Amino acid sequence: MKIWLDGRLQDPQEARVSVFDHGLTVGDGIFETVKSVEGRPFALTRHLDRLTRSARGLGLPAPDLDEVRRACAAVVEANPMALGRLRITYTGGVSPLGSDRGDAGTTLVVALGEVTRRPDTTAAITVPWTRNERGALTGLKTTSYAENVVALARAHERGASEALFANTLGRLCEGTGSNVFVVLDGEIHTPPVASGCLAGITRALAVAWTGAKETDLPLSVLAEADEVFLTSTLRDIQAVHRVDDRDLTDAPGPVTAKAMRVWDERAADDLDP
Ligand SMILES: Cc1ncc(COP(=O)(O)O)c(C=O)c1O
Repeated sequence: MKIWLDGRLQDPQEARVSVFDHGLTVGDGIFETVKSVEGRPFALTRHLDRLTRSARGLGLPAPDLDEVRRACAAVVEANPMALGRLRITYTGGVSPLGSDRGDAGTTLVVALGEVTRRPDTTAAITVPWTRNERGALTGLKTTSYAENVVALARAHERGASEALFANTLGRLCEGTGSNVFVVLDGEIHTPPVASGCLAGITRALAVAWTGAKETDLPLSVLAEADEVFLTSTLRDIQAVHRVDDRDLTDAPGPVTAKAMRVWDERAADDLDP
């Protein structure tokens, strides 16, 4: 196994990041998770665009995308695997102990972990905690993810693989690491980015490829929707067969099943859509 740090491939046992790194001490960092299929990253251009947007939102210097591309290519080449989670992490670097960022330069790490393909359907729960649609970090993919850690642990306790949040207004928002879609009267809907959700790359492609509408929806729509599905880099489109105590036993329903087929066709057509 090799990872990228300090501009070169390194053995993870030998790679060192400072204990004063602002990513570690206060979560001052951003990241991307990219799917790698047989060593080929999927939708890398969109992920790098979002990395740049997240950096801008956090006030970090723009990442050197040539280096990030080189790092991704080197890491996937050094670690052959069928399906990988390619993880780009970029932080504020060595800083004083506090919220002020230092000026020692940023930290870039690129690593790869092997994953297995997700099942076609899964269970989700709703959680009582909210996404803040008006926060300083809203819409940014930052390493301040501990709220997601707590919510995802709750989902696992309940036999589910994802926890779904409403925003502060009680509107449907997103999961800990996924976007959510519902089918109502045969039409697909997903919350708008203004709900406070991350502008998921899978979400954007699913909207473009299925004609899903962006609709402001109450959290309670999950109790009524004919079908529910999740999207994320590693889930692609994944049907939901249970939300809290509600069984959607024939998941994937017909609309979701079609969306999954369309996804597979379009994604196979173009590695960097
Ligand atoms: C909070 C959150 N929402 C949604 C998503 C889905 O985004 P993407 O499709 O780009 O993986 C993610 C990323 O995995 C996420 O962390």
